[in-house]
Amino acid sequence: MTDAPSRVRSLVAGNWKMNGLEASLNAAAAVRDALPGLGANAPGVMICPPATLLTALAAVAAGSALTVGAQDCHPAPSGAHTGDISAEMVKDAGASAVIVGHSERRADHGELDRIVREKAAAAHRAGLTAIVCIGETKGERLAGLTLDVVRRQLRASIPSASTAANLVVAYEPVWAIGTGLTPKPADVAEVHETIRKSLIGHLGEAARGVRILYGGSVKPDNARELLALPDVNGALVGGASLKADDFLAIIAAAA
Ligand code: PGA
Repeated sequence: MTDAPSRVRSLVAGNWKMNGLEASLNAAAAVRDALPGLGANAPGVMICPPATLLTALAAVAAGSALTVGAQDCHPAPSGAHTGDISAEMVKDAGASAVIVGHSERRADHGELDRIVREKAAAAHRAGLTAIVCIGETKGERLAGLTLDVVRRQLRASIPSASTAANLVVAYEPVWAIGTGLTPKPADVAEVHETIRKSLIGHLGEAARGVRILYGGSVKPDNARELLALPDVNGALVGGASLKADDFLAIIAAAA
């Protein structure tokens, strides 16, 4: 455990991945409409839809406590990069954050820590919060390398000018994503403590305010236990964020 408990407002972010058509905006609207009833301890709530829905979701969220994030951005502000979107475009579409370095991007698109850092820096350049994902594979965990891996990924993927206001770290063990498996609570706590110490080493004391989310098979029935752990400041939720009732149950567990 770190010396002082962090008093940061937690964040529950839904990552819709490559799911969602216009009709899915109804689920976002249901989440939006439930937020005022959650009380003063409610976490920040964000939905990260596919890029095709960013603008429409920003319209759904306008004037409410719901915020919007993208799932990726290109490092450059504009240019000849067919199929990519820049952090500036994400901002222009009405988002306030962008996920970078998700393990599915690292695996599907060969993204290395250096690119992830460039994307996080692009997010900061555009005035967005970067949600930087890190986490070990099953093989790395079995080999006892988890803490080394997350320290290395943090060192290489976090821009040195990051602040508590523009950086969120998501610890997502690759083997826990979409599998229904989660690490033991003590293991989650150990990794989050390591991330906090590492962040303080890189960014100074202000890093106590950086939110560290847990992600990987967060569900309504395990959210309360995971979210109560030290240095767990919220969750990045994939599959369970697609249904408003499940996502709201996780949000309630963070309140
Ligand atoms: P999951 O995905 O909740 O479906 O495991 C989490 C994530 O990849 O962010």
